[in-house]
Amino acid sequence: MGSILSCDSQHAAAVSSSATDSKNSSVAIIGAGFAGLAAASRLIELGFTDVTIFEAQDRIGGRVFPVPFELGYLQMGAEYINGQNNPIYKIAQSLNILDEDENDESDGYHPLKDITFYSGDCGLAQRSIDKFLKFIAPLEKKFTERAAEEDEADKAESIGHLYGEEYKKFVAEHAESPKDKVDYDAMSHFYQAYYEAEWAADWNDLSLKNFVQYDSGDAVDREQIMNSQGFKAVLDHISANIPSSSIKLNSKVVSIDYSGSGVRIDLASGPQEKQFQKIIVTVPLGHLKKFSKTMFHPSLPQAKQKAIDELGFGAIGKLFLVYEQPWWDPEMTTLVTVGVEGCASSVATDKHFHAFHPLPWNENVLLGWISGPGPAAIDAMSDDQVSSMVTSLFRRMLKNDTIPAPMEIYRHQWTTNPLFGGTYSYVSVAAAKTELSLNEQLAAPIVVDGVARVLFAGEATHNDVYSTVIGAYLSGRREAERLAKN
Ligand SMILES: Cc1cc2nc3c(=O)[nH]c(=O)nc-3n(C[C@H](O)[C@H](O)[C@H](O)COP(=O)(O)OP(=O)(O)OC[C@H]3O[C@@H](n4cnc5c(N)ncnc54)[C@H](O)[C@@H]3O)c2cc1C
Ligand SMILES: *[C@@H]1O[C@H](CO)[C@@H](O)[C@H](O)[C@H]1NC(C)=O
Ligand SMILES: *[C@@H]1O[C@H](CO)[C@@H](O)[C@H](O)[C@H]1NC(C)=O
Repeated sequence: MGSILSCDSQHAAAVSSSATDSKNSSVAIIGAGFAGLAAASRLIELGFTDVTIFEAQDRIGGRVFPVPFELGYLQMGAEYINGQNNPIYKIAQSLNILDEDENDESDGYHPLKDITFYSGDCGLAQRSIDKFLKFIAPLEKKFTERAAEEDEADKAESIGHLYGEEYKKFVAEHAESPKDKVDYDAMSHFYQAYYEAEWAADWNDLSLKNFVQYDSGDAVDREQIMNSQGFKAVLDHISANIPSSSIKLNSKVVSIDYSGSGVRIDLASGPQEKQFQKIIVTVPLGHLKKFSKTMFHPSLPQAKQKAIDELGFGAIGKLFLVYEQPWWDPEMTTLVTVGVEGCASSVATDKHFHAFHPLPWNENVLLGWISGPGPAAIDAMSDDQVSSMVTSLFRRMLKNDTIPAPMEIYRHQWTTNPLFGGTYSYVSVAAAKTELSLNEQLAAPIVVDGVARVLFAGEATHNDVYSTVIGAYLSGRREAERLAKN
């Protein structure tokens, strides 16, 4: 067995063998999400002739999961493009699938804008709502500025903790009665759900570091909306040069042995005869958290296992509710239900739901966002249970018992699918305590006999745009290029 150590790309390049030889090497890629597909596509572009992707599911795309619906696709996974200064935006632009209206808006879409709040009989006073919105307006900027301060230790503070300090001051100054306090608590929960839906993280574990480390390269972070084809068209585009014979579907990898002269893999169905020279692992961080200790032989280097253990991987939930016709005001952009403590018309499960938007390209579909402990709770329920829960929520909060139940519900249970174990990564409080970027530790290749043999891609391996399709795509190309130089 050769010497095994992690190293950065410069080191890997310095010890590489000749570039022409590397193009003959046999490469296995684990996972056919955007990282795996981008890696394969780039390798093929670079002249590699022996590339095989192993994908556990019966489809490509991974967390990009478009499900056909009428003339378009409902996106069970990624839906928006985070910013303009990135290759995914450019692909969408070239495919002409960007939503014109949203792009013309000068200040763009923001999830805290144009909200209609409903709280049923709980009587959330408009005065409280207005005061609260004024209170939260500068907070995100304040957190970002604080994150940019030099003190590293500060970056391990959680957003939940920092908010708590601000909130205490606000309540002391503005809660004139116990009812005011109850209203503000309810609004606080809404604000918490906003962060938890953005970052797929419990806000008590969402470190301030995210606000400086995450960097889309745009001056203003805007979510770009696509038309009815959306990520289905981008998926087709980025995988167009990969022969379907190179993609092995229904091929779950359970073991990766890199101890010999190459890499041997076992599928759930049995060992693969072919030995590969290189492997690019792109399985989600949530899958590595569950299986990395049994998957790799020999065990992963300590620094990488630490990154796997300490980086955050949480969940958001999406629910597509299909109605015969809209029952909501067609002018409405965002419907928020606010459960108020101690009020008869509000129940505990109301807290799982964050906001609802009508789908821009189909007026009969409402898209619901679930955050915090909501995704796990709702993933454990049947469609019938979800349907009655959400219908009861609307009827109570809008005080209208004739609101119909949805005809159909579309969703994917990401938290209970062991291939994912959640939705996307974030920098946790524990990860922020380490000065090194754990995302970079996760990305570092394992070098055997001076050659990078086990490489890592996937959204969580991107230092700046982790959590996104953009990060996944860029990381796949990064590892393809590393192989070409190796
Ligand atoms: C609900 C939801 C909403 C999102 N919204 C957005 C958004 O609006 N914008 C955005 O940019 N991003 C969004 N994201 C995040 C984005 O989808 C991901 O960051 C990105 O798609 C990840 O790509 P990837 O290639 O790293 O991983 P994946 O797409 O997860 O690909 C990994 C692949 O590995 C496969 N796999 C797992 N284990 C094994 C195994 N043992 N053997 C073989 N194959 C295996 C999986 O089946 C999967 O296909 C969202 C994600 C979710 C779930
Ligand atoms: C690589 O492949 C080319 C063309 O198939 C062949 O001529 C060459 O000898 C191969 N090199 C190695 C090192 O296998
Ligand atoms: C209640 O909902 C029904 C069905 O969507 C609608 O027709 C009706 O106008 C609503 N009533 C009120 C008072 O909003």
